[in-house]
Amino acid sequence: MSPEPFLADLVLTGGTVVTGMTRYRADIAIKDGLIALVGDPSAMPAARETVDVSGMFLLPGAIDVHVHFREPGYTHKEDWRTGSAAAAMGGTTTVFEMPNTHPPTRSVRELRQKQQAAEKSHVDFGIYGLLAEDNIDELQGLIDGGVNAFKCFMGNTFGNLPSPSTGAMLEGFEIIAPSGLRISLHAETASIMAWRQKRLMESGRNDPLAHIAARPAIVAAEAVSRAAELAEWTGARIHVLHISSAAELRPLADAKARGVEITGETCPCYLLLDSRDYERLGSVIRVNPPVREASDSAAIWQALQSGVVDMIATDHAPHTPEEKTRSIIWEADCGFPGVETQMPLMLNEVAKGRITLEHYVKISAENPARAFGLWPAKGRIEAGAQADIAVVDLDRTETITASALHSRGKITPFEGVTVTGVPIHTLVRGRFVQRDRRLVEETSGWGKQVTAIQQMPAARPCNTDQTLAAVLRGPSLPSQGGSS
Ligand code: DOR
Ligand code: ZN
Repeated sequence: MSPEPFLADLVLTGGTVVTGMTRYRADIAIKDGLIALVGDPSAMPAARETVDVSGMFLLPGAIDVHVHFREPGYTHKEDWRTGSAAAAMGGTTTVFEMPNTHPPTRSVRELRQKQQAAEKSHVDFGIYGLLAEDNIDELQGLIDGGVNAFKCFMGNTFGNLPSPSTGAMLEGFEIIAPSGLRISLHAETASIMAWRQKRLMESGRNDPLAHIAARPAIVAAEAVSRAAELAEWTGARIHVLHISSAAELRPLADAKARGVEITGETCPCYLLLDSRDYERLGSVIRVNPPVREASDSAAIWQALQSGVVDMIATDHAPHTPEEKTRSIIWEADCGFPGVETQMPLMLNEVAKGRITLEHYVKISAENPARAFGLWPAKGRIEAGAQADIAVVDLDRTETITASALHSRGKITPFEGVTVTGVPIHTLVRGRFVQRDRRLVEETSGWGKQVTAIQQMPAARPCNTDQTLAAVLRGPSLPSQGGSS
């Protein structure tokens, strides 16, 4: 009896595969959710289905380590079905979801609640646990219970979770360091912002630009420096979320140079908008940290090119139009949807020649996969990896309109922007979740939580004899019987 011939589930034929370094013409065979073969059309096995993607580019699906899907608690803004549908439509195949839901993800019980809500997801996902002042005793449980990373709000934002003291942060870092899990930081110092906002409110400022005045870049620079010191001391891995300023690039680059395990992300709004857009957009542009000056955007672009900023994420933060357009700036909710528009906006920058397609693959897929322990299973198009693929048409033009977004947050500062470059199919582990610019509705529930740690090098905790846990166990006395 001759063995059964290999039958692939799907072959994508005629496309160009893009990696972080190069691009080449190749077909892709997919079997059981994995990439079985990348190669010449003549080498492809028989397949149940063959899809012609001639003229298209095949990118590893974007890995967005910063989204807010709002469920449980704020489902009028978003839920896991709508948020992950937006991801699928945006070429994003894995998201890491933030803990400022209601209740926040601060204990194992709440982690289970979040996992249950996430069962509707179209795309794969990681779940953040919270590191706050009042849940230090829950951190080990969250690690053992399967969170993929931690989030620490050094500054207040939506949800008003009180930011932890530096003391609580240090103990949190000590506990998390041995796990190797990354701690993502909302790096804005709460006390500076609270002080300035109070003073600005007393002076009667309530215009959109007052938002920047309350949160000058020093809040970010100070927070990044402080967090980097704690990470260096404890050996914890950290990640700076939503880099918005030139000022915070210095402590980030310095920490990298010292060998601190630190990565950083920025978001499209900090690259593509600046203070001149406040007049036109009003409170719609309000986000934490704020969109700043054109000189900040220029510096962040440069840092993205040089590798000081490692990746692009979105801080997808949907709110309703009513919540976004309150006339007193302090009352308008912060943030806007982003997971569906990130790839088109960035491909449009590729079209303009501002970034290469290869570098885009690096910052949207490879680097986040490496930093968050998903590499080599995700973040690349190679035999053996999971078949998470965005098929993009670099010539297709679309105009962004909030009403057409799949997110429930129907308001965006990118309203009316025409982009060139759009993901037309999205595959998660070999299955189309978006096909021909249409959501594949029945893939709600296909998304799975990613494995906590794949191929992460062991973390190297330091100063372990001085952790709070160690000193609480009591002083280690010099051994008895020694010289007096
Ligand atoms: O503007 C923001 N909105 N920044 C954040 O960090 C959180 C987010 C939200 O959850 O709305
Ligand atoms: Zn956020």
